[in-house]
Amino acid sequence: MGGGRKLSASFLSSLFIFFFLSTNARFTPSDNYLIDCGSPHNTILDDGRTFKSDPQSVSYLSTDENIFATSNSTPENETLPLYRTARIFDSESVYRFLVFQPGRHFLRLYFYPLHHPSYNLTTAVFTVKTDQGLVLLHDFSATKNSDSHFKEYLINVPSDDFSLVFSPLKKSFAFVNAIEFNSAPDELVPDSATIISPPGVFNGMSDYDLQIVHRVNVGGPMVSPKNDTLSRTWKSDSHGYMMFPKGDKLVSVDPSTITYPVGGATPLIAPNQVYSSAASMEESGVSNANFNLTWEMKVDSGFNYFIRLHFCDIVSTGMNTLYFNVYVNNMMGISGLDLSSLTSNLAVPYYKDFVLNASAVSNGLIRVQVGPSDLESAIPNAVLNGVEIMKMRNAAGTLDGLFSSSSNSRGVSHTTTIAEVVGVGAATIALLLLIFTFIRNKNKAKGWDQGGTSSKSWFLPLNASYCTTLLSSKSKSKNGYSSVFSSNIGFGRSFTFNELRDATKNFDESVVIGVGGFGKVYIGEIEAGTKLAIKRGNPRSSQGINEFQTEIQLLSKLRHRHLVSLIGYCDENSEMILVYEYMANGPLRDHIYGSTLPSLTWRQRLEISIGAARGLHYLHTGGSSHGIIHRDVKTTNILLDENLVAKVSDFGLSKTGPALDQTHVSTAVKGSFGYLDPEYFRRQQLTEKSDVYSFGVVLFEILCARPALDPALPREQVNLAEWAMAKQRKGVIEMIVDPRILKTICSESLIKYVEAAEKCLAEYGVDRPSMGDVLWNLEFALQLQDASLQLDPPEEDDTCDAKKNKIVSSEKSKKGDETNNDSDVSILINDDSGIVIGSPLFSKIEDFEGR
Ligand SMILES: *[C@@H]1O[C@H](CO)[C@@H](O)[C@H](O)[C@H]1NC(C)=O
Ligand SMILES: *[C@@H]1O[C@H](CO)[C@@H](O)[C@H](O)[C@H]1NC(C)=O
Ligand SMILES: *[C@@H]1O[C@H](CO)[C@@H](O)[C@H](O)[C@H]1NC(C)=O
Ligand SMILES: *[C@@H]1O[C@H](CO)[C@@H](O)[C@H](O)[C@H]1NC(C)=O
Ligand SMILES: *[C@@H]1O[C@H](CO)[C@@H](O)[C@H](O)[C@H]1NC(C)=O
Ligand SMILES: *[C@@H]1O[C@H](CO)[C@@H](O)[C@H](O)[C@H]1NC(C)=O
Ligand SMILES: *[C@@H]1O[C@H](CO)[C@@H](O)[C@H](O)[C@H]1NC(C)=O
Repeated sequence: MGGGRKLSASFLSSLFIFFFLSTNARFTPSDNYLIDCGSPHNTILDDGRTFKSDPQSVSYLSTDENIFATSNSTPENETLPLYRTARIFDSESVYRFLVFQPGRHFLRLYFYPLHHPSYNLTTAVFTVKTDQGLVLLHDFSATKNSDSHFKEYLINVPSDDFSLVFSPLKKSFAFVNAIEFNSAPDELVPDSATIISPPGVFNGMSDYDLQIVHRVNVGGPMVSPKNDTLSRTWKSDSHGYMMFPKGDKLVSVDPSTITYPVGGATPLIAPNQVYSSAASMEESGVSNANFNLTWEMKVDSGFNYFIRLHFCDIVSTGMNTLYFNVYVNNMMGISGLDLSSLTSNLAVPYYKDFVLNASAVSNGLIRVQVGPSDLESAIPNAVLNGVEIMKMRNAAGTLDGLFSSSSNSRGVSHTTTIAEVVGVGAATIALLLLIFTFIRNKNKAKGWDQGGTSSKSWFLPLNASYCTTLLSSKSKSKNGYSSVFSSNIGFGRSFTFNELRDATKNFDESVVIGVGGFGKVYIGEIEAGTKLAIKRGNPRSSQGINEFQTEIQLLSKLRHRHLVSLIGYCDENSEMILVYEYMANGPLRDHIYGSTLPSLTWRQRLEISIGAARGLHYLHTGGSSHGIIHRDVKTTNILLDENLVAKVSDFGLSKTGPALDQTHVSTAVKGSFGYLDPEYFRRQQLTEKSDVYSFGVVLFEILCARPALDPALPREQVNLAEWAMAKQRKGVIEMIVDPRILKTICSESLIKYVEAAEKCLAEYGVDRPSMGDVLWNLEFALQLQDASLQLDPPEEDDTCDAKKNKIVSSEKSKKGDETNNDSDVSILINDDSGIVIGSPLFSKIEDFEGR
């Protein structure tokens, strides 16, 4: 009996230890972004990780281009399905990730030049860098050769967001198949390492950004991400690293016999499959054995390298019998390494970190050798279990190019290079200033032009052949190839009156889909079922004529995914008819309140507000031309297409900015009550910031699901802007949030969103953000929402409460316990600083736009 109990007790305790160790070994990244770029669906790898589809990850991306390459099969010699699709970037594009836990992060990028009918991906030349100025790839071109397909980095991310910038070389383009951006354990890279030459200690390693160049499971098979807690790949030794394979003897033991030490190596440093296999000397035990085991790896010269060697004595039968030397590039790394005395046992992992000075990497090779020690007592043998070689960021902040590109670069000293970099920077700034002034002047000139002469010259020469390209490019963009809308400038198609009359059953009341001050809007069908929205003006209204002119003039020049496209017009028989793309889901307002349509989710509402913000941002910054003020931003002027993509419409009231004093009499009466900028109302001066104000009202309308003005309500509630601001000032905004979605909104996302809306409603225009800033904040709100769902996958309706509580409880413990209130209300009030919401955001964005 007693024996049995004892046995079970020790069994339990070993079970406990096992559990303890194995849970210890697991690492859950707090940031975990996995994106299968260009893929229409999620991709689940055989290691269980799910890569998000492209549509699901567009919120990280600042681009309106949607160009994809796809292939039915995985490329030769590659196994990952991630290589089957790619996203192509025609212009500089930025992925921006929210960082929950600043510190070490893995960044893994996949590049395979897939076939695309109009882009030859092997000719793409581009640079990949971070917002911290770290260049990861400089003028990079992917080849079908497998060593360019995968790039892996260990980056130090100090702030709470991280941006990855793809910038194509002039006239070229960029692409990427997949992106991984995950937290890594900080202890993975220690602060100090042994310098090999001149011998010493290197401190400050934890500030360095690294690129993993080689990672080898010496003497064993490949270890795939499935068998590594940090999803690393350890290549097998059979890649030609071993120089004199004749002399080596591969040894391996059962991985479960590897015992990790207390303090020192952990499964995070390397999995036991790395330590359970090794190369040792074949002639082991024979007295005349006198040679080194040698591995050589190709690297870029001109960089310092961080080298980690993994050892585990799985060959000896007793303690203190194995002594050997370790050399790196013919220099002594460790003399007389005695593993068993360092680890106090056999089969216990040990690793050692080195820094190799760039001056010692002469011929682009790193040579690692292990060989018998000179100690007389030693049996001549040596082992090596694993090698990791990582390139260190150089003084110029690059992991590629600058030093390594030219052969004479080795002589270049740090100071000249820095001088070069500074010089280039100064030149760039000067150039930017020049361009900026130029554009400003140009815009001014244009603005005056438009203001002065628009009334007569709005009917510019038209070209009917344009329409076919417009229509065909539209269908093309649906297939995901290219969106010509943002670049092409044309003047639409001239329809005949008969064509439009036939399309609308002679302008029958039954096909009316909208009525506005301008006239009626009909749905019409021409040519094989192409649906169009046809807006017929009332010829008797003189105001109508002006608006018609303004609209066709402005719209015909604007092409953007988030602006309703003008397809053509008709001016026969003094008709004023505009023909637009048909927006199947109609005005946004109908989806928020006052109809029987299903309620939109918070995520859909965020995407719609982001879309509308993009459209307005494009209007204000002009895309390629001058800035335009919409002047009538409201939820009925934001339309939704069949995929609920938001597009801004109705430019009948638009004016080219900046304020046109001479028209202030007429401008004073334009706009819609409830949305009207109070400053504009008072001073009758129109700026982009008036649109920003109206957009703030729209944001609250989306959030609270009620009209901007509702005279039926008690006096203090009639005006949504005033009421929402009052609630926000009291910190109880959630009291007026649409109750259908309140529970599904994460508090951080709500805070960010309301913060954006609140800033829009600032009393004075100068205090309001630009549409670009609003856009970034909304995207941030979307990321916060997504991130919280990622941490806590939805189980029930209350998707984000768990996460909310987690963040709040840690926040509370930081602040002390003064607000120990468990209701959501107090959480929202007290959490306004927001753990993850950093003030550096705005300045960073400005940096970006400045470039
Ligand atoms: C793409 O460009 C490469 C290099 O210029 C060329 O060798 C290859 O034939 C091109 N492929 C196609 C499909 O045009
Ligand atoms: C695939 O691997 C085989 C054998 O290693 C090699 O001969 C072939 O060139 C590789 N193909 C490509 C496209 O790299
Ligand atoms: C990798 O892990 C799986 C289980 O996760 C295991 O069955 C398999 O044997 C491991 N592979 C190797 C090479 O040990
Ligand atoms: C092993 O390599 C080191 C450095 O390259 C060299 O000094 C030493 O003589 C070599 N040992 C043997 C036994 O060849
Ligand atoms: C590398 O070596 C050069 C000269 O040999 C020295 O000036 C420099 O400080 C060394 N760098 C490191 C990181 O040790
Ligand atoms: C219409 O465009 C085509 C091609 O862009 C051009 O060749 C033609 O001259 C244009 N016609 C007019 C009337 O401008
Ligand atoms: C909790 O909230 C209620 C009302 O919101 C307030 O009256 C009370 O003082 C709060 N309690 C604490 C401990 O802050």
